[in-house]
Amino acid sequence: MKLNDTQKKFVEDLLSKMTLEEKVGQLNQESPSIVGGFDVPFGELIEMLTDGRISQEEFERTMANAERDYHEDDIRAGMVSSFLDSDPRKINELQKIAVEETRLGIPLIIGFDVIHGLRSVYPIAIAEAGSFDDELMEKTAQMAARESRAYGVCWNFAPMIDVARDSRWGRVSEGPGEDPFLGSRFARAKIRGLQNGVDKGESYVAACTKHYVGYSACEAGRDYNTTSMSISQLYNVYLPPFRAAMEEGACSAMASFNDLNGVPCTVNSYTLRDILKGEFGLEGFVVSDANGIKECVTHGIAEDDIDAGVKAMNAGLDMDMGTHIYYEHMLQSVKDGKVSEETLDEAVRRILSVKVWLGLFENPYVDEDVIASYEKGVPQQHTELCLKAAEESIVLLKNEGGILPLNKSAKFTLVGELADREDEVVGAWSLGWKKEECVSVRQGLEKAGAQFDYYPVCGPESNINEDELKAAIASDCDIVVAVVGEYKSMSGEASSKADITLPGCQKEMLRKLKEAGKTVVAVLMNGRPLALGWEKENIPAIVEGWHLGIEMGTAIAKVLFGDVNPSGRLSSTFSSMNGQEPLYYNHPNTGRPGSKSKFTSKYLDAPIEPCFCFGYGLSYTSFEYSDLKLTETDDEISATFTLTNTGKREGTEVAQLYMQDVCASLVRPVRELKDYARITLAAGKSRQVTLHLKKSDMGFYDNQGKYVVESGLFRIFVGGNSVDTLAAEIRI
Ligand code: NOJ
Repeated sequence: MKLNDTQKKFVEDLLSKMTLEEKVGQLNQESPSIVGGFDVPFGELIEMLTDGRISQEEFERTMANAERDYHEDDIRAGMVSSFLDSDPRKINELQKIAVEETRLGIPLIIGFDVIHGLRSVYPIAIAEAGSFDDELMEKTAQMAARESRAYGVCWNFAPMIDVARDSRWGRVSEGPGEDPFLGSRFARAKIRGLQNGVDKGESYVAACTKHYVGYSACEAGRDYNTTSMSISQLYNVYLPPFRAAMEEGACSAMASFNDLNGVPCTVNSYTLRDILKGEFGLEGFVVSDANGIKECVTHGIAEDDIDAGVKAMNAGLDMDMGTHIYYEHMLQSVKDGKVSEETLDEAVRRILSVKVWLGLFENPYVDEDVIASYEKGVPQQHTELCLKAAEESIVLLKNEGGILPLNKSAKFTLVGELADREDEVVGAWSLGWKKEECVSVRQGLEKAGAQFDYYPVCGPESNINEDELKAAIASDCDIVVAVVGEYKSMSGEASSKADITLPGCQKEMLRKLKEAGKTVVAVLMNGRPLALGWEKENIPAIVEGWHLGIEMGTAIAKVLFGDVNPSGRLSSTFSSMNGQEPLYYNHPNTGRPGSKSKFTSKYLDAPIEPCFCFGYGLSYTSFEYSDLKLTETDDEISATFTLTNTGKREGTEVAQLYMQDVCASLVRPVRELKDYARITLAAGKSRQVTLHLKKSDMGFYDNQGKYVVESGLFRIFVGGNSVDTLAAEIRI
């Protein structure tokens, strides 16, 4: 985000005309409040939904008839800056009040959670990052920007770029996985896709990077829990995607709920002022997460709401999501001298700058013709992009004896309740989809002309239906395709789990099918890396399908029948069993790396190796790496090697380069991803490939947050995952 001189002058002129009250109004974000119409308070209604007393359908029906308060009088009084909504016609109405009925006509900035698509939902981030395809990640973000803007949303609470190492944390689904380098490339691609339309005459929105910062390091993987870490870990692991996003010009950031080393990120001037606005140069603004300011009282860092507001504002938290604390108390806090007028002006200047950059003053309204066209259906090219993203995100985990791809004319049996749930393909944090536009696995297979009988047998929460299981076993097909995994509500916010094995009776179903002599192909549909030790041992073919978005079923069918050769890789390590978490590939070396010897770093009752490692994924062909050579220039190390497709069909390999700083002033990870490329090769063909490592990227941040590049011995690895690699050493 860069404002030209005219835009900057516009902001300053406006600021100079504003009263203190109007300035405070610019700090306030509202969302529609639900009023009346229920027998129970709204909070309890939500609890009834979450604990299963009412179904999603009952909830939606109640909500459809509920009355909403859009705080129109507050908008009219100039006390609302932002609104959280995605109903385009309502947005136009509210915007009209802000633009035409307030003294200064400052438009609202409409924010919404468009995490992996609005109407055209593409794969959850942990899956899409596994495509290792930056261009794709950018294009899906551009599509999300186009749809958001059409719906009146001009500020997306995305990308979520928390580096997540613990699969118990439900929000691993929303982010790009466990690696800071992949996370940074993902962050850059998403910012370009969301924001860069401004230079190209395309749709664009302001991005809101989140959750800043360290939120994913919550102890024990429990959402909202405390986090503590060294400064070097903060800088080397959790900050890189945010730094990258800011370098791409991200407009805003959302402060996370957690405390970091004892200071909640909502009131953390070290992370907000010193790092984000200072070192990283954020020119836009910081919004709290929902209710974040008030929660500082519960954290025990602020005595009351007034104190929380003062602390947040002084720490550099510009906009209040959801608490009304700025709205109710900031004016007095400024009058009392607890917050300076300069601090208030700075926050307002940042918020106005984003509104100006978005062009909202010239163009505040939604084009209702565009919405009318979306009401007829999503554009064909959006569906096609969702399909491509889904295809590239699928990871083939196991394919013993080449069971896959299946022969389209051979009959098989389909089981698993999830196979028939088109409402589950979209995954967590998807809010604008239409059921009739989603393709379940069953529908995808039908569309592909497959011959199969279907028995649900069981789902993530149900018991085994013995009659259906008997029928599945009695069918005369050897192959059973079992769609198993998690409901979308089992990952995402407030969905941490202590047990990350296949939920419910699904493993039991697989076991019984295997014992009955069936050849089982497991298609996983899940939001987090599952602990798959038993499945890896016992199931001959496993396809990781994640929650792939509206085209999930089509993409899975294409992979199962071989129309698409899988090329996705794991953006996160998979454990074999629960107790291994957090498990991640780029861990620091110990003085006693785990081995067969007793006094080494390991478990007595669990492996230390991953079940499936970071970067892993099979193909219907095979690739070989050979002839690794390193060359050095003043600025760079190049790793050149020969990649050969040794199989019988064309395929795409994700070639990966890792580095180890063998001896440094701080203990460094055993491996760190530093470059990757997708390479497509015809059967039998070879190609020389070069991956690059800038010398300036070979350093690390020390415990003062200072970047140091130290000379010495480095190991360079290249290969198709983080474990099976060629290696060479270089001293620089
Ligand atoms: C809470 C979530 O933590 C955040 O990711 C989301 O953007 C906000 N609520 C707004 O819905």
